Amino acid sequence: MPVEERVSITSEKSGLTEAETDLLRSGGGLSLEEANRMIENVVGTIAYPLGIAANFRINGRDRLIPMAIEEPSVVAAASNMARLMRGGEGVKVTSTDPVMIGQIQVLDIPNIDKAKKNIAEAKDKLLDLANQQDPVLVRFGGGARDIQQRTIQTEAGEMLILHLLVDCRDAMGANAVNTMCETLAPVVNELTGGRVLLRIISNLADHRLVRAECVVKKEDLGGEKVVDDVVSAWAFADADPYRAATHNKGIMNGVIAVALAVAQDHRALEAGAHAYAARSGHYSALSRWSKNENGDLVGVLEMPMAVGIIGGATRTHPIARLALKVMGISKAAELAETMAAVGLAQNLGALRALVKEGIQQGHMRLHARNLVVMAGAEGDLIGRAVKALVESGEIRFDKAQEIVKRLEG
Ligand code: MEV
Repeated sequence: MPVEERVSITSEKSGLTEAETDLLRSGGGLSLEEANRMIENVVGTIAYPLGIAANFRINGRDRLIPMAIEEPSVVAAASNMARLMRGGEGVKVTSTDPVMIGQIQVLDIPNIDKAKKNIAEAKDKLLDLANQQDPVLVRFGGGARDIQQRTIQTEAGEMLILHLLVDCRDAMGANAVNTMCETLAPVVNELTGGRVLLRIISNLADHRLVRAECVVKKEDLGGEKVVDDVVSAWAFADADPYRAATHNKGIMNGVIAVALAVAQDHRALEAGAHAYAARSGHYSALSRWSKNENGDLVGVLEMPMAVGIIGGATRTHPIARLALKVMGISKAAELAETMAAVGLAQNLGALRALVKEGIQQGHMRLHARNLVVMAGAEGDLIGRAVKALVESGEIRFDKAQEIVKRLEG
């Protein structure tokens, strides 16, 4: 489809206004003034391609998924796998309450047992004090829920670490959690007789988890051998951190492309995902693939997903707001679950390509397309030149130039 047609269809299906549709056409959607309000020392903006992954059915609902990414093949792979997943009813997703952890590090405590007892006894008071910092969050049903205590042995001696658990509802929560932790610090100093040092959110958001599951019929995947091979590819990642890093990178291709489209803190998501993948002490795959009694492929992805839809750049970036509208998302949990569904599809796309033709074939086709365009091909010549270049088996710029020249003449 030509780009303009895609824009019209996306606009129509998502009920975009004329102004929003123009924003899509604007090629970035962020003015210098808007950028200047987001960070410091602004001198420009950088635009990413924004694609739409099609075919996603998530908990029985069809959704168009905007993905911002510079890497070719990712959007196509997500769409293709989402299509295969529809045969097994689509992706089923669930999530826990959106609870984040704030850490308070306490040093130089004269009597740790006594300090822990004092904190435990003052828990309700501490939670009240934390909640006074964010009445809006409390009004929306969120707020500080619990305080957990851990003692850890470190190079700098024994430390008491408090975990303040905060239900962040539709916010990512970093601001709320950090403010609460900072407020509690003087009281914690008093209760422990020690000295609070760090007061900061943990990006290992292991209380804020999402789970996406799918079944892909063996015949849709290319037969039972492909199912077995995907399971073997997964088992490799499960056992070997060198492979697990790449396996999880494939998942993050999907997760982060959606995160970028809606202007999330993607560094936080990456950090949380990889720390979670290493929670057993052995860095491993975030997903699990197995074969069911019918010989079909079953996939499960479970990971932390700390995303918000109120506050931050998601509120101020016009494309981010538009992308949420395209997905039809009005809750942070829905966004988190949708991102997990895309991560699972992306993972399958990579594994399926790797166990079949390898990923270079698809990549090289797209690479060939770039080369023939660079060599001057236009209109319907592009398709013919790509075909000839791929068939030549020598996907290089000089060869592309030669082919384009020949086909033009
Ligand atoms: C490339 O961006 C992602 C893959 O390497 C993922 C994987 O190997 O599973 C294809």
